[in-house]
Parts: sequence; C-alpha cells; structure tokens
Amino acid sequence: MGHTSLVLAELDGRARYDLLSNLVVPRPIALVSSLDASGRANIAPFSFFMLGGFVPPSVAFSPVNNLDGSQKVTLRNVEETGEYVVNLVTRDLAEAMNEAGIDYPPDHEKWEISGLTPVRSQIVRPARAAECPVALECRLFQIVRHGEGPNAANYVIGEVLVAHLAVGLDSTEFRPIARLGGKSYLDTDGGKLFEMARPKGSPPSSGNR
Ligand SMILES: Cc1cc2nc3c(=O)[nH]c(=O)nc-3n(C[C@H](O)[C@H](O)[C@H](O)COP(=O)(O)O)c2cc1C
Repeated sequence: MGHTSLVLAELDGRARYDLLSNLVVPRPIALVSSLDASGRANIAPFSFFMLGGFVPPSVAFSPVNNLDGSQKVTLRNVEETGEYVVNLVTRDLAEAMNEAGIDYPPDHEKWEISGLTPVRSQIVRPARAAECPVALECRLFQIVRHGEGPNAANYVIGEVLVAHLAVGLDSTEFRPIARLGGKSYLDTDGGKLFEMARPKGSPPSSGNR
C-alpha cells in the first residue's frame, strides 16, 4: 500500500488538529463536572479521553490550553480541588453535552445552559448529571503537561472511585455517542453517524474545537 507521509512539525496548529482529530476516532466523550475552590460548579465535554487501567481503575482526559495560552476552567478546578465526575452521554443528551462545550458566558452557568440536572455524588464533591446513564466519580492522580502555550496538552489522570449506572442498564449494552472529526459523531446505538455544529456562542478565540 502506498502512503502519503506528513511530518507533523511542518504543519501549523490548525492543520495538526484537523488531521489528528479526524484520524484518532471514534473518541468517547467525557462530560466532566467539577468545582472550583470556592464551590462554583462547571461542566464541559472532552473527547480526548481514554481508559487507562484497572488496578487502580484509571481514566485520562486532556483539556488543551486555550488559544491565549490560558487553562480551561475544568483543568483549573481539578487542580484546585482534586475531584471531578466523568459523565457519559447517549444520543438523547448530545445537544445538552454540546451546549456545555460553549466557551462563554461565564463558566458557572454551564450547568444551566446545558439544561442538565446536578445531583449529589457519593464520594466526591462535584455533582454528577442526573440525566446521564453513566457517571464515574474520580479523584485526581496526576496532571501531565506536554508543551506550553496554545493547544498544549494537559493529561488529567484520575482514579475512578464510584461508577453510577442507570437502574436497569446492563453495562454490556451501554451505547454512548463518540466524536469523529469536524461536526461528525457516531451513535454507537445502531452505528449511525450524525452531525452537530458547535454552539453559536463559541467565540473564534476559543481553544480546542
Ligand atoms: C464533543 C466535544 C469534545 C470536546 N473535546 C475537547 C477536548 O478533548 N479537549 C479540550 O480541550 N476541549 C474539548 N472540547 C471543547 C471544550 O468543551 C470547551 O473548550 C469548553 O468550553 C471547555 O470548558 P471549560 O473552560 O469550562 O473547562 C470539546 C467540545 C465538544 C463539544
């Protein structure tokens, strides 16, 4: 098989994102709820998300830096408090998840914008989203920064403390949505593709799309 070989160092940031986000697919989506040190709640989606191991049970996600080099609110919160919840989303929650990905207005209103309902978690302080069929309560293990400035990676590695499953949900039948490149998503329930643009409120100065 012949190949076209691209040297990543020769591509600009946008081209790298377009390339890799179309190739490393489908990506599961972590809808992460967190609190800052003063108790203000936030919720935002991250598709740079993976399972890492089981002993201890470990997951990782990466909020990349904003284009101005600043950190995403979720990253600041997790660093401040050491706790968060990874909520997992099915097709019926795609639009709510997308709304939570809006880059403004102020982050403490994200729960309201998404329309999701916060309910108490069992061990950690941040709430989980009642509508999500699965939620994983996590305690921060480590943040690994790779690079600095715009779009640099911040791998947030956490230990899963509690898994909440909707009553009647058989974990082997869980069918979440996953992100493909651009506006494309995969609904693993039936294997259908669908499209969803980022919400209009997102300013062009925002970081990862
Ligand atoms: C489906 C989806 C997946 C996303 N994945 C990521 C991601 O993996 N990393 C990232 O930095 N931003 C990602 N974003 C964008 C963030 O959700 C967005 O920048 C959000 O405003 C960050 O919120 P925060 O600053 O309140 O933490 C994604 C957005 C959507 C809709």
